[in-house]
Amino acid sequence: MNVLITGAGRGIGLELASFYAMRHRVFGTVRDERHAHKLTSLGAEALHLDLNQPASIKALAKALTDTPIDILINNAGVLYPEHDLDDIDAFNFLQSMQVNALGPLLLTQALLPNLLAGKAKKLVFITSLMGSMTDNGSGSFYSYRASKAALNAVAKSLAADLKSEGIKVGLYHPGWVQTDMGGPRALLDVGTSAAGLSERIASLDDNQSGQFQSFDGTPLPW
Ligand SMILES: NC(=O)c1ccc[n+]([C@@H]2O[C@H](COP(=O)([O-])OP(=O)(O)OC[C@H]3O[C@@H](n4cnc5c(N)ncnc54)[C@H](OP(=O)(O)O)[C@@H]3O)[C@@H](O)[C@H]2O)c1
Repeated sequence: MNVLITGAGRGIGLELASFYAMRHRVFGTVRDERHAHKLTSLGAEALHLDLNQPASIKALAKALTDTPIDILINNAGVLYPEHDLDDIDAFNFLQSMQVNALGPLLLTQALLPNLLAGKAKKLVFITSLMGSMTDNGSGSFYSYRASKAALNAVAKSLAADLKSEGIKVGLYHPGWVQTDMGGPRALLDVGTSAAGLSERIASLDDNQSGQFQSFDGTPLPW
């Protein structure tokens, strides 16, 4: 199988690349070529992608022309800490939307021929429980919450629209994970999160397509 993982130079994406590279052909994307060696040392192939640049998405799709992708994992994301209204910055809000929601949608659009050429036809989004309206009892993190809620809406539409093509869509919260984004006080190590995510992806089928789940399979509220 061929697996493409965005944001694979560190954090959860790198751990997923490590897991899949033991079994499959893996393409991991990086923004900074200096991270590429982390992927090549795993036996994975590093490709450039900056989700802020639509031209970069097109270039990635061009580089992968005629390459089937069985599993596309939209993992890359950004979080700008916003604790109260004074922290709001329009640029950061728009960047969050671009990287966390619009970028994955444009990438899916660009790589749809590759997904259709693959056998597994699994389209995965690493989202966040912070995108849940129901779970938002503590507020703050305006840009991040809004962008992950937008990503959830995007993924839900894709699940409906691509069903007839046989594409299954997984939306997974990875847990609170010890990465640059999650910080050192997070509850989970990256290996536990990635192992759970890989189990979810392995069991993703038509019945589960479009569901919002935690890395451990717990159904999550929208
Ligand atoms: N850690 C948690 O507790 C947690 C909880 C819920 C959800 N998540 C989600 O899980 C995913 C992975 O998070 P993580 O904790 O592994 O974060 P991380 O350690 O901060 O890594 C983020 C990854 O996204 C990439 N990225 C950022 N901006 C990008 C852009 N414009 N174009 C392409 N790639 C870009 C980064 O690449 P560079 O190295 O080039 O910056 C990096 O590889 C994210 O979607 C995040 O929202 C994480």
